[in-house]
Amino acid sequence: MNEQQLEEARLSCERIIDRIAEVFVGNRLMLRKLLAAGLANGHVLFEDYPGLGKTLLAKLFARAIGGDTKRVQFTPDLLPSDILGMNVWRQNDGTFQLMQGPVFTNVLLADEINRAPPKTQSALLESMEERQVTIDGDTMSLGSPFVVIATQNPIEQEGTYPLPEAQLDRFLLKLSTGYPANDQLESDILLRRIQWQKDDATEDMEPAVDVGRFVDLQRFVETGVYTDQVIVEYITQIVRLSREHPRVAVGASPRGGLALLRAARSIALIHGRDFVVPDDVKMVVPDVLAHRVILNIEDTLEGTRGEAVVDDVLAQVPVPSDMGRMAR
Ligand SMILES: Nc1ncnc2c1ncn2[C@@H]1O[C@H](COP(=O)(O)OP(=O)(O)O)[C@@H](O)[C@H]1O
Ligand SMILES: [Mg+2]
Repeated sequence: MNEQQLEEARLSCERIIDRIAEVFVGNRLMLRKLLAAGLANGHVLFEDYPGLGKTLLAKLFARAIGGDTKRVQFTPDLLPSDILGMNVWRQNDGTFQLMQGPVFTNVLLADEINRAPPKTQSALLESMEERQVTIDGDTMSLGSPFVVIATQNPIEQEGTYPLPEAQLDRFLLKLSTGYPANDQLESDILLRRIQWQKDDATEDMEPAVDVGRFVDLQRFVETGVYTDQVIVEYITQIVRLSREHPRVAVGASPRGGLALLRAARSIALIHGRDFVVPDDVKMVVPDVLAHRVILNIEDTLEGTRGEAVVDDVLAQVPVPSDMGRMAR
């Protein structure tokens, strides 16, 4: 990547975020993280109370990157074939024909994922990890980009099936939209609604880039962003300390370390840099690692949160300061 390509990449990222922020009221930092996950071809889990704009945000993201999008509302009677697809018998010519399920798309919105039973959840989670689907013995690759944005409510309701930790690990980031931070933002939501004269303004929004451009940006992240040895060591120390922390029963896996690397490289590109600095890593550590650590039972019962432990880990790892060495 030359200087000009880098600046153009930064501007494309900025445009995607601006476009989403025209409709979604909220902090740009969170939007940057969502974009970072998408640029790394990673999946995102939003955990929040109902009505905080999760579904809206997922739809806006899909629209902004110009991709094809499908939505599945997870319910207790949802079957794996409702997500993956199935072979259907065709009476007139006596053959089976594959009906592709909603997973064959660029951005899949898996809404209220914890309301479906484990078998259906795992069908989705397997396809997320392997980026392919097997139906009656035939294996088919999923397209690219392929980004799942799943939402779940934190309330422990009757009839919900919390995702097991092993499956949470499949999400590159766990984010939260949160409540509007102040009165101004709260009333902005109302004012925009008055201006749109409809509930959902997503369809009126023009994509910020086309999907081909988004794939280019993904490739820049993969091939054009340099990661120095000092950054590799920094990530290594963070992941290892997450396993040694006294409140942790099971720390982050190597997949967690890889997730940190991928997310940090995307953040670097979003900032218009072709090399990773420690701040890129720091910025995403809680979102990448908090859902991957399992705390000791006593600490869980006392209400300690993964986020707090991960913050503590981060504070203990010395930040590499030799900036000169980080650029290529
Ligand atoms: N931050 C926000 N910005 C703009 N609209 C919002 C925001 N949060 C909620 N809304 C609006 O509130 C309603 C509920 O949002 P929705 O995305 O369905 O919530 P969730 O999926 O989290 O339950 C929608 O009409 C949405 O447009
Ligand atoms: Mg919703």
